[in-house]
Amino acid sequence: MYKIAVAGTGYVGLVAGVCFAEVGHQVTCVDIDEDKVNLMKSGVSPIYEADLQELMQKNYAAGRIDYTTDYQSAYKDADAIFIGVGTPEQPDGSANLSYIATVARQIAESVEKDCLVVVKSTVPVGTNDKVEQFIQDFLVHDVKVEVASNPEFLAQGSAVHDTLYAERVIIGTESEWAEDILMGLYEPFHLPVVAVNRRSAEMIKYASNDFLALKISYMNDIANLCELVGADIQDVAKGMSYDERIGSKFLNAGIGYGGSCFPKDTKALENLAKQNGYELKTVKAAIDVNNGQKTKLYKKASKRLITFNGLKVAVLGLTFKPGTDDLREAASLENVPLLLEQGADIYAYDPVGAENFAKVHPAGENGKGHITYVSNVEEALEGANVCFIFTEWGEVKAVLPEAYKTLMRTPLVYDGRNIYSVDEMKAAGVEYHSIGRAPADRVSVKESKNVELQTVKS
Ligand code: UDX
Repeated sequence: MYKIAVAGTGYVGLVAGVCFAEVGHQVTCVDIDEDKVNLMKSGVSPIYEADLQELMQKNYAAGRIDYTTDYQSAYKDADAIFIGVGTPEQPDGSANLSYIATVARQIAESVEKDCLVVVKSTVPVGTNDKVEQFIQDFLVHDVKVEVASNPEFLAQGSAVHDTLYAERVIIGTESEWAEDILMGLYEPFHLPVVAVNRRSAEMIKYASNDFLALKISYMNDIANLCELVGADIQDVAKGMSYDERIGSKFLNAGIGYGGSCFPKDTKALENLAKQNGYELKTVKAAIDVNNGQKTKLYKKASKRLITFNGLKVAVLGLTFKPGTDDLREAASLENVPLLLEQGADIYAYDPVGAENFAKVHPAGENGKGHITYVSNVEEALEGANVCFIFTEWGEVKAVLPEAYKTLMRTPLVYDGRNIYSVDEMKAAGVEYHSIGRAPADRVSVKESKNVELQTVKS
């Protein structure tokens, strides 16, 4: 078992640290925020993530994980130091590497024995070469330090599971020594490992994320066309999904992708290409489609209602996806200000994201509009003139079509997540608008379609 230090206790660092402890390694997580460190020591997770808090408590009690602000003592005799600090997007779309540089400098000044530095943060291709050089330049003791790339592929909401049961682990190294250490670190996970060079590992991360973003944008593009020609995107997606080359995942059309990765990583890769004199047209197209998609329903509703001024607007779901309290790049952040600007009286519901949203848009008067946070869907819908669905939380999916008809003043629903069947909503008397499907006033000719695979009888 190895002695590991982890720099940064955000999604990437904390989840990695906890999972390494869970498989038996000795882990120290480092963060500059003393309050956060004390919170973690007391067994509380600073982020909302399934299973994380339980594993933090279990491994802390077993003495396998600790938290500190004292990076020197954590780094000085570590076998491996994982860097999981943020690489936020800069105004030009490139990644801000200042946090990585700060940690690299601290490592160089602290390490007193040979050690592998493993970069988990998403960094532009070639960054790890620079990090290694940077550490060499500032190294205080006469020890060997190499840098390896080990990108993570965790999705928020299932981060612990995604790490412990990853479909593949990517390790990018420039020496056998580094590869052996990483193999040893991952040995107790019993997962498939792909060992490549450092630059390829860095590229695998971007290429994977951007491919998924492209897949979503492609489906959104097709969905927009479906609406115009009278096809149904969900049936189309289902029909496509039986081709194993396409697969069934990430085919859901909606109000675009959000979160901390896809928006940032698409822009970063496009930027990397630009810096190298190349135009990455496919990724640029994915970004363009996504930008248009986020406010698609708002624009549609604006035409239908003329104005939102004084209307009671129910907003169901604020986070960028269910299972997280994260609002980064969420469609709600674009749509709610547009509604408030028009003087809407918003009643917003989100089972975990409301608190974070209220930090941006406090309850009460908001410009020309007003916002109230409610604790259940019914309160949001009661007497509403229109409803927007931005996140497919289980609590929202559980609402029966009839509830919109009974509770709302006008049963007018704009669903950005295609939660309901168009026919069911029509049957319940709801004017239902969704993405890539027949609009409320032009509901399908056939009442119900069967897109399950059938065997043709001879
Ligand atoms: C993603 C990747 O899945 C993960 O591998 C990577 O490490 C980080 O980025 P995450 O951002 O947590 O993870 O969420 P994900 O579940 O991938 O969803 C991203 C966005 O795409 C969400 O806004 C989601 O609603 C949207 N999405 C996803 C769709 O619109 N349609 C889909 O079919 C799937």
